[in-house]
Amino acid sequence: MSFEINARTILLGLLGHPVAHSVSPYLQNKLAEACGLNQRYMAFDIADEEALEDAVWGGYAMGVKGFNVTVPYKKAVMEYLDEIDPIAQKIGAVNTLKWTDSGWHGYNTDMPGLLRALAYDGVEIKGKNVVLIGAGGAANAALCAALEGGTARVLILNRTVAKAEELAAQFAKEYPFIPIACMGMRDDFCGFMEGFSNEWIALQTTSVGMHPDVNGLPVASDEFYKLLSVGYDIIFNPKETAFMKRTKAHGGRAFNGLRMLLFQGIRSYEIWNDVSISDEIAGEILKGMEAAIVK
Ligand code: ATR
Repeated sequence: MSFEINARTILLGLLGHPVAHSVSPYLQNKLAEACGLNQRYMAFDIADEEALEDAVWGGYAMGVKGFNVTVPYKKAVMEYLDEIDPIAQKIGAVNTLKWTDSGWHGYNTDMPGLLRALAYDGVEIKGKNVVLIGAGGAANAALCAALEGGTARVLILNRTVAKAEELAAQFAKEYPFIPIACMGMRDDFCGFMEGFSNEWIALQTTSVGMHPDVNGLPVASDEFYKLLSVGYDIIFNPKETAFMKRTKAHGGRAFNGLRMLLFQGIRSYEIWNDVSISDEIAGEILKGMEAAIVK
């Protein structure tokens, strides 16, 4: 059931730059419709950090129920919050704001979103080996998910090893019993991986392979793909990336980034509305996203 906009309609929104191609308004408005809530979600293109501060406080004064925050403001927004969830603190980034009468509360739903995507696909991360490709902003939440999920060990594979080491150091203190190794693309990472298992779970967090670079592969060697049982790509355009094709060609399962996007959005929606969204509703919306958004 959906509602016409009226005087009681609750506003939610996205703050970021750019936002014109965001999938979040589609996803969040479908969730509101599925739950029969009188709310609407809009995307707001925020020019700079000064405008971000105005938007955050303006939204607060107007009683906006919640915001998602995306690139490039996930860190900057932390300055304006009354309380920050411990997971968001660890990751150092907030993507969800919830209005409370004492101020904004901040959360990171990228991390629980990825864990739920894994559970949804029947991928058990506990006790397994995870190879994280990339060490940028997206890798941060993915590493936290792997560690929270109880992975046996993590290998961070990145073009710039120093960045991988920085990321590992950020989490090493919090998870002292889980080894985190860092390697570059020219290192013998396949030899390292073979030493432990040939059923690694890969989390691909770089932009390599994103449209229009559809043939781009974040890792070139075939040996690497033979060692994967599952590959998650953060990219969803194209629907099937070169990374996913290569993983499947060697017998692994592969998924695109729509699931992570879906479940981070669902987690935000659950926080704003104090509800639980079933896998059934999630599955319906995923189908809609695949049909409507992915070319
Ligand atoms: P974000 O912060 O949004 O995740 P980013 O800062 O552009 O995005 O970087 C994402 C990751 O993609 C980084 O790990 C980056 O590698 P470097 O640390 O070496 O810069 C990786 N990346 C981006 N383009 C790449 C390319 N052409 N080849 C290999 N890695 C690449």
